[in-house]
Amino acid sequence: MSPDDLNLIAAMLRERSGLVITVDKAYLVESRLLPVARKRELAGIPQLVAALRRGGDADLVREIVEAMTTNESFFFRDGKPFEQFRDFVLPRLLQARAATRTIRIWSAACSSGQEPYTLAMILAEEKARLAGWRVEIVATDLSTEILQKAAAGLYTQFEVQRGLPIQLLVKYFKQQGDRWQIDAALRAAVQYRTFNLLDDPAPLGRFDVIFCRNVLIYFDQPTKTKVLDRLARQLPADGYLYLGGAETVLGICDRLQPVADNRGIYAPAAVPLKAAG
Ligand SMILES: C[S@@+](CC[C@H](N)C(=O)[O-])C[C@H]1O[C@@H](n2cnc3c(N)ncnc32)[C@H](O)[C@@H]1O
Repeated sequence: MSPDDLNLIAAMLRERSGLVITVDKAYLVESRLLPVARKRELAGIPQLVAALRRGGDADLVREIVEAMTTNESFFFRDGKPFEQFRDFVLPRLLQARAATRTIRIWSAACSSGQEPYTLAMILAEEKARLAGWRVEIVATDLSTEILQKAAAGLYTQFEVQRGLPIQLLVKYFKQQGDRWQIDAALRAAVQYRTFNLLDDPAPLGRFDVIFCRNVLIYFDQPTKTKVLDRLARQLPADGYLYLGGAETVLGICDRLQPVADNRGIYAPAAVPLKAAG
């Protein structure tokens, strides 16, 4: 791949999705974009980039951006954050929201749905405590293709073997040929929408808990700051933000602070140290 072609693709990806591509990732770009070229019956990457340079093809831009996303996800990813959700976050919200009996949860960058469905299963397991409550799970991703997979709720044997306790597989999934489909009630409990984290989330409304895990790692620091500032604005003072194990707000966003003794959970800072732009 020529340096010029790589630069063009990298600039487009940074602008459209926040993804930062460095020179050493040329092989990754080539391997991900070759199928996009083939699908359009183009001979290879140079022809694909030429089509992009001609401009005006919004579908091509979208296909390239989607092809470059990493959609790796699994049920109960990292275990602990979801235990904390059940044992620390949920009890506090049940107390704090007793007047409205409403809780809104956002799985931002939900990929193929394992994260929102993990939450839906935890809530289903807690249904006695949640009787009479309205709990909304909004799940968003940049990629419309991955959202279709999420909404279908169909997973391979490999996917259901990663992190999902066997008793929950038996309880909430049905075998469909060589795949497993999550219960219709749990599918209906999650609202899927396309949303780019580079955009303003204000139209989605406020959320008591936001999961934004394993996506900020792909962004540069100014983008992380911008996204985190905006997520913080969608949280009430007693809301919670979850980040992935390799992500933090420290040194990146003063509007949020770590929750003591709960690694990976952040809360709005009482007094932001500096105003965000
Ligand atoms: C590695 S997955 C993380 C999935 C899940 N949160 C987890 O932790 O298992 C990253 C997801 O972020 C999405 N993504 C990447 N850039 C995005 C952006 N700018 N806005 C919204 N989603 C984005 C990708 O499409 C992908 O599905």
